[in-house]
Formats: sequence, structure tokens, C-alpha cells
Amino acid sequence: LLHQKTYLVDGELKTWNGETTEVYSTISSTENYQPTLLGTIPNLGENEAMETLNSALNAYDKGQGLWPTMKVEARIKCMEKFVKQMKTKREEVVKLLMWEIGKNLPDSEKEFDRTVDYIYDTIEDYKQLDRNSAKFEKNDGVYAHIRRGPLGTVLCLGPYNYPLNETFTLLIPALIMGNTVVFKPAKHGVLLISPLMEAFQSSFPKGVVNIIYGRGRVLATPIMQSGKIDVLALIGNSKSANTLQSVHPKGNRLRMVLGLEAKNPAIVLPDADLDLAVSECIAGTLSFNGQRCTALKVLYVHDSLVDEFNKRFSAKVDALKFGNPWEEGVKLTPLPESDKPAYIQELIDDAKEKGANILNEKGGKTSENFIFPAVLYPVSKDMRVYQEEQFGPVVPIISFKNIDEPLDDMAESNYGQQVSLFGKNVNTLAPLIDTLVNLVCRVNLNSSCQRGPDVYPFTGRKDSAYGTLSVHDALRSFSIRTFVASKDN
Ligand code: G3H
Repeated sequence: LLHQKTYLVDGELKTWNGETTEVYSTISSTENYQPTLLGTIPNLGENEAMETLNSALNAYDKGQGLWPTMKVEARIKCMEKFVKQMKTKREEVVKLLMWEIGKNLPDSEKEFDRTVDYIYDTIEDYKQLDRNSAKFEKNDGVYAHIRRGPLGTVLCLGPYNYPLNETFTLLIPALIMGNTVVFKPAKHGVLLISPLMEAFQSSFPKGVVNIIYGRGRVLATPIMQSGKIDVLALIGNSKSANTLQSVHPKGNRLRMVLGLEAKNPAIVLPDADLDLAVSECIAGTLSFNGQRCTALKVLYVHDSLVDEFNKRFSAKVDALKFGNPWEEGVKLTPLPESDKPAYIQELIDDAKEKGANILNEKGGKTSENFIFPAVLYPVSKDMRVYQEEQFGPVVPIISFKNIDEPLDDMAESNYGQQVSLFGKNVNTLAPLIDTLVNLVCRVNLNSSCQRGPDVYPFTGRKDSAYGTLSVHDALRSFSIRTFVASKDN
């Protein structure tokens, strides 16, 4: 059991003697299903929320603090110290990723290693940042000595599906640019921050990073209401982002960096390599049980090959191995959100009532913490599985005769993150890609959707994102370009 007894404020790991919250895993350690108790976290209140906010504000000190005024090299040293200590915690964090959110071993290891790489890449990119002087074109002889400055104090809230990696894609660039941060870990994946608390405490000057534990509503709401936060950095759902933004006195003038929902489609054209399309769509729809914002959440397959696609796809889904995250070859794992199986079941029932069939034999078979992925066909627009971001193991398939059908759906959608396009003929693909890039931000040709590599811009249109994340872009998202105008070069 891991009892997280402290929170990080003002450079101190402060012991909490009040109420705690138990953290459970939906991975059962007994044959008769019983959630496994993993540990406890402090259940902090509004006072502690304000205490951490004040700590971050003091460290920023209206831009005059040690951290926002620190030299580039010195900030890099802090970050390097942190990542060095972080690397020693790999085993512990990977184990917690498996137990807390049910991510399989290879993906948990990848999440950790990818995060370490992300930090090193961020340091490198930070060194290259545009600090060069520029001569003003229209005012000969005046030079702009350019810098990039911090924005202030950031409230950072990460998601449960990437509680380490995605959270750090907000936290690390925000920090290295000189901002100070209040960070609340995600509800699932909260304990895996514990092994890193000391590294945070010892690597950064006091008050630069503050870590609070408890309920988002209790902690984040008063922080936002205070109006003292300069940036809301959140990866999660738009409902939470909207609520938090609305209670901040600045409302829609508040700076935000947001990664939100998506309903990424795959479009399988008549000349697609079917085996490739099937295997990419399996990875795209069901990696980590479909709990990825970049997951393929609806498959459009051309009428001429839909029967064959469905047959091969369903057989492959049924062949996926379910088990505990650490077992060899396991692709499907228990779901961390205990209400998810019931929600997925609702989507399946609704689709069946409205005329869809479950194509795969194992589809929809449930236990307390798991539901086997259901492949649904034919899916229509009146079904909830089409309308909602399922974020779980259910795959809707729609057949189309004319490419305008998926394109129109994408144009009408509230989301616009990515698309996967499967086909071979360059003459068909080229104009289609020109259209698709105006509907989403990334077109994946003959491959599934994904965020990585982390140097690629990660963003979306409409309700899918606000601002851009990537090693390169995030440094810009968490800073502002400033300059000194002078006659001296
Ligand atoms: O949940 C959204 C993540 O950004 C997905 O990242 O494509 O690397 O799995 P990924």
C-alpha cells in the first residue's frame, strides 16, 4: 500500500493529518471480483488549494521571482536534476501505471520512457529558442532584442489515460519557460506522482511547483475563482474546461492550453490495402481499450469492401488477449473507471435497438471491470455510439458509397483532431488530403491516428483543442514573445 501523506507547497513536503481518500484499482487480486486497495491520498480542502496558489504566486512574484528571472542555463540545470532523479523511479511508476489505470506493460514502459525523452527534447528545444536579435525592417538601425517570457502562474490538470506523459507535456514546458505551477494529478493515476514528489521538491526553487491532492471541484474551483491564475492548462473533457473557465473572472479572455475530446474517423477507400487497414484500425480503435483522445472512434468503410473488412476486423478483435497488464501479449485490460462497462453497454443497447448488430462473437461480454469490445454495424447517425465520444471498447462501423458522406459528417462534427485515410491511388488521395487538412489537423495516410512523435504539433479544430502541444509548440504556448528595442545591436 502506498500512503501519500504529503503535498508540495512552498518547497516543503507538508504532512497532511486530515481526511484521506482511498485509491482503488479495478484489477482484482481475487477470483471473486474485489477492487484492490492501492493506497491513500490526502483529501485537501479549499484552504490548502489557496495555500498552494499563494505559494506559486509568491514564487512568481509578479515576474520578479527567482524562477521567472533565472538564466536559461540555471533553469536547464534544475530540469536536468529533476529528470535524473525521475529516471531512478521508472520501475515504481511503471508498476503504478499498470495497477492504477490498467495500462499494459509495454505501453506503461513506453509512457515512462517517452516522458523522459520529452523532457530532454524540451531542454534541447529550449536552448534553441528564438532569442536572436532582429533588425526592424521599417526602422533602419533599430534592433529588437528578442526573448520569450513566462505567462505567470499556471493551473495544471492532467488526464487519467496518460497521467504521467500528457500531464508532463503541460507541466514541463510551463516550468521551463519560467512559469510557476499548481498541479493536481488526475483521479486515476494519482499515486504514480508520489515517487516523484521528492524529485520535484529538491530540483526546483521553493514554490515553483506545487502539488495538491483531492477533488477537482473542491480544489480547482476556488483557485480559478480567485482570478489569480494566468493560464489554465488542462487535458481532459471540455465540460470541465468550460466550467473552470466560466468561474474565472476573465472568462473567455483567460489564456488556456487545452487538449479535449475527439471523434477521429478512419476512411477506408475502395483501393485500400485491406490487411493493412484492418490491422491499423485494430490498433487505432482498441489500444488501451480505446481510452485515447486520438483513438479511431468511427470507421467509414467503402461499400464495395465493407463485408470483407467487417469479417477480418471482427475476427482480429476476438483474437485480442484480455488479461492483467503485466501478462505477456495482453492487449485488453480492466477499465480504470468502474462505471465505464455500464456506459459502453448503454451505447451497445442503444445501437442494437436502432438496428445495429454486434459482429464479433465475444463483443459486449462483461464482467465487473471489463467489457469485451463490440464491433457494431451498420451504425447510423441517430445512435449514441455515433454521437458521443465513447472513449472505450466499442467500435462503430459505417459503410459509404460516396466520399462526400464521411466528409459531410466530419464537417458537421463538433470535433476536428485527426483522420486516418486508407487508399493507394495518388490521384484520388491528393485532392482528398487537401480537403481533409481543412477539417482536421493531422491526416494519417495508411496508418492509425496518434499523437506522437512528440515533436509533431498536437492540436485540433473546433472543440478538440485550444492551443498546440508538442515539444516545440508547447514552449511557445506557455510563453510570450517580448523584446527590447534598441539602437545597439
Ligand atoms: O488521449 C490522448 C492522447 O494524446 C493520445 O496519445 O496517440 O500517443 O496514444 P497517443
